[in-house]
Amino acid sequence: MSAQKTYRIAPSILSADFARLGDEVSRVEAAGADFIHFDVMDNHYVPNLTIGPMVCKAIRPHVRIPIDVHLMVSPVDALVVDFAKAGANLITFHPEASPHVDRTLALIRDQGCKAGLVFNPSTPLAHMDWVMDKVDIVLLMSVNPGFGGQSFIASTLEKLKAVRKKIDAYTATGGQPILLEVDGGIKVDNIAAAAAAGADTFVAGSAVFGAPDSDGGYQGVMSRFRSALASVPQ
Ligand code: DX5
Ligand code: ZN
Repeated sequence: MSAQKTYRIAPSILSADFARLGDEVSRVEAAGADFIHFDVMDNHYVPNLTIGPMVCKAIRPHVRIPIDVHLMVSPVDALVVDFAKAGANLITFHPEASPHVDRTLALIRDQGCKAGLVFNPSTPLAHMDWVMDKVDIVLLMSVNPGFGGQSFIASTLEKLKAVRKKIDAYTATGGQPILLEVDGGIKVDNIAAAAAAGADTFVAGSAVFGAPDSDGGYQGVMSRFRSALASVPQ
């Protein structure tokens, strides 16, 4: 029997109360979050504007868990350096947003962070083929990036299976481990399907930060996520 798979849950602070962000991140850490997912939008690569390195630096002392910075920006490289200095641990970016994907991946690692590529629903997976050795995490968008609270796009399940195959084939031949993260519309009723399709890391924004206190708040939704994941056949 193989050991129980390790699943990671990464609450996205896009749906947190921005007026009390330090408290929000420490409360989700206390509720069992594995990463803090930090959505950076520039009103250029995506049609919304959010938070930058100064906010990352401000929340860093409030949590011990890794900060998972999702860059929805173009250009990418200057912000990689700024976020690494601000305490980011993982940095992912969209390959369409950087003219030199291999160089940007290497830059993220040079800054001491884990590096990853993000695929929009229509982005072909071929972008990862020649850079696997520089990738620590693959993030599949299950919504079009730009906003929290959207519905999960069903075709992501087939795409997750395709990435799972690529990663497993790569690690089977001695490649480094690569996380497979899914982002957008993850709820208690679909997280198990995403896991069964191959995801091991789950971003959830509105499901976590919108969880009603009457249902146990952040602790409640995190334990419902864990129970749903425990039901996934290994
Ligand atoms: C969308 C962001 C997501 C989003 C997830 O562009 O990358 O991280 O905040 O939010 P929910 O879980 O509400 O879809
Ligand atoms: Zn995100």
